[in-house]
Amino acid sequence: MKDIICLAIESSCDETACAIIKNGREVLANVINSQIDIHKKFGGVVPEIASRHHIENINIVIEEALEVANITFDDVDFVASTYGPGLVGALLVGLSAAKGLAFALNKPFVGVNHLHGHIAANYIEHKELEPPFICMLLSGGHTHLINVQDYDKFEIIGKTKDDAIGEAFDKVARTLNLAYPGGPVIDKLAKEGQDICHFKRTTLDEYNFSFSGLKTAVINYVAKNKEYKVEDICKSFEQAAIDVVVQNTRKAVKEFKVDKVAIAGGVAANSLLREEMNKMCEEENIKLYSPRISLCTDNAAMIGAAAYYKFVKGNYSNLDLNAYASLGIKD
Ligand code: KG4
Ligand code: ZN
Repeated sequence: MKDIICLAIESSCDETACAIIKNGREVLANVINSQIDIHKKFGGVVPEIASRHHIENINIVIEEALEVANITFDDVDFVASTYGPGLVGALLVGLSAAKGLAFALNKPFVGVNHLHGHIAANYIEHKELEPPFICMLLSGGHTHLINVQDYDKFEIIGKTKDDAIGEAFDKVARTLNLAYPGGPVIDKLAKEGQDICHFKRTTLDEYNFSFSGLKTAVINYVAKNKEYKVEDICKSFEQAAIDVVVQNTRKAVKEFKVDKVAIAGGVAANSLLREEMNKMCEEENIKLYSPRISLCTDNAAMIGAAAYYKFVKGNYSNLDLNAYASLGIKD
């Protein structure tokens, strides 16, 4: 069978990325231009600045991806791009570039849901992984416990009722005057700290989450106690957040009687989460799938992997596809 080559673009937040993916699971190029250093001084992503930098970088990452993969536009079978959720101005840059490219090359275009992309990062890492499985998706904007029934069939089992887990990491880091993004910094500092604060573990009904109470507890602790070790606060916060994630995943594994669990999204890069999930899966005798850290945070390779499964079904998108800031997992 002829190989299928996808040129995939991702620009939903502060990463301008282009990847070349062969047959859905093989990465020929995965180029990421991160704007983290630009947004750092503002303590978070400034949408307008992100859009402007995407415009400056989009052609550069596309050219670089082709060069790394050692192919030309003629070798590309279809073009894919994230169309939501994310910052609408940021999304529009990658989406417009992809649609323009597909039109110019006269090749099919496939719009991809960013959340499906995060889940699909696991297909790149684990060539044997196929649905069904349970996926705990943990990113800057989402905290979804998902029953992945098929490549294109997703059921949300539980989700956050307020802040996303990554948002909580970033806000806690801000409270502690740590650099943006907070997740990797907290991850590192927590390794030197102890869980001395014992923040309340909030679990809601069903499999739902709440992280705003935990965030407030950290803010109050810092305001009330003048003497504390930042490392201890990091560890106490991280342990409390991860405990509920692992607890709900364990509950779902038992109820849905699955033998496969995957993690995905930027917070899936967290070392304590990976350790605790591993432990839980060993205890429950199930297999844990996790993408390498560079595939957990935003990238275009995962978009190309998700796009492949739409492409082979003939599920192409029209060239008038718009960007949607709050696209849901079922959209
Ligand atoms: O998936 P992602 O790259 O972008 C979104 O789609 O939101 O996730 C970004 C989030 C940020 O909140 C960042 O702080 C968090 O992932 N993150 C981490 C780690 N690395 C990134 N959180 C905890 N531990 C990490 N090692
Ligand atoms: Zn993401």
